[in-house]
Amino acid sequence: MSDPSPAVGGETPSRPRNSLRTAVVWEVLSRALEARAAAVATAALDVLDTGGGTGNFAVPVARLGHRVTVVDPSPNALFALERRAAEAGVADRVNGVQGDIHGLFDVVERGGYDAVLCHGVLEYVDDPAEGVRNAVEALRPSGALSLLAAGLGGAVLARALAGHFTEARQALTDVAGRWGEGDPVPRRFTVELLTELVDKAGVDVGAVHGVRVFSDLVPGVLVDTQPGALDALLRLEAAAAEQPSFHSVASQLHVLGQKRA
Ligand SMILES: C[S@@+](CC[C@H](N)C(=O)[O-])C[C@H]1O[C@@H](n2cnc3c(N)ncnc32)[C@H](O)[C@@H]1O
Repeated sequence: MSDPSPAVGGETPSRPRNSLRTAVVWEVLSRALEARAAAVATAALDVLDTGGGTGNFAVPVARLGHRVTVVDPSPNALFALERRAAEAGVADRVNGVQGDIHGLFDVVERGGYDAVLCHGVLEYVDDPAEGVRNAVEALRPSGALSLLAAGLGGAVLARALAGHFTEARQALTDVAGRWGEGDPVPRRFTVELLTELVDKAGVDVGAVHGVRVFSDLVPGVLVDTQPGALDALLRLEAAAAEQPSFHSVASQLHVLGQKRA
């Protein structure tokens, strides 16, 4: 596996947890950007990160040499993004814009991007179908869509393993996949739901990966104290991510697709 985490390079002291959260997606995303750059014969792509927050992905993408626009409604996140981009020496390639995925074209150009990231956002928006449509409309023909959203099965499994059996059943049967009033996540997705949204928006699904299949279930002490455990877990996550049988129990689902020409 190449660089397993966009958070490497001294940007954060909590590398172990961050790399477990980002490694699988980063691997898939960085390969997709490389392929797109080769296809359009350029070293610097135009990338849009909708709901990009503080730049967990935007800053490492800029470090690859690409120009990244981050649209996010949170001024605090955009402030942190600006500081992080400056610290990483990529301030000239990262442009933070306050905005919303529902009003995306008030702030960015339609059809202006080689790749669009929408990571950890669909769970929180009012209309996920419109959110995906807008993300896709921001793409140039054959551009790459990288979509990451909360998985239903992972939440059910986590509640059950924590002994919250009624909440686990509630999540399983709830139309939004929520385990109760106290659930901080407004909506979760199955692979079928997510790929249908993407397909209807005009994107061919290239790959689906299950993210954090084990990481959220393993006691932290096992990862932090056993020599080599983090690397072994990262390799296990990478192997399981590819297997459809593990998608239904992943904490997050990643869909990579290409806009139909
Ligand atoms: C869980 S964070 C994910 C941040 C980043 N994409 C990542 O993967 O690290 C969710 C982000 O979505 C943003 N967000 C929430 N509602 C949004 C909306 N309607 N349109 C765009 N972004 C939104 C939040 O401000 C926050 O920065």
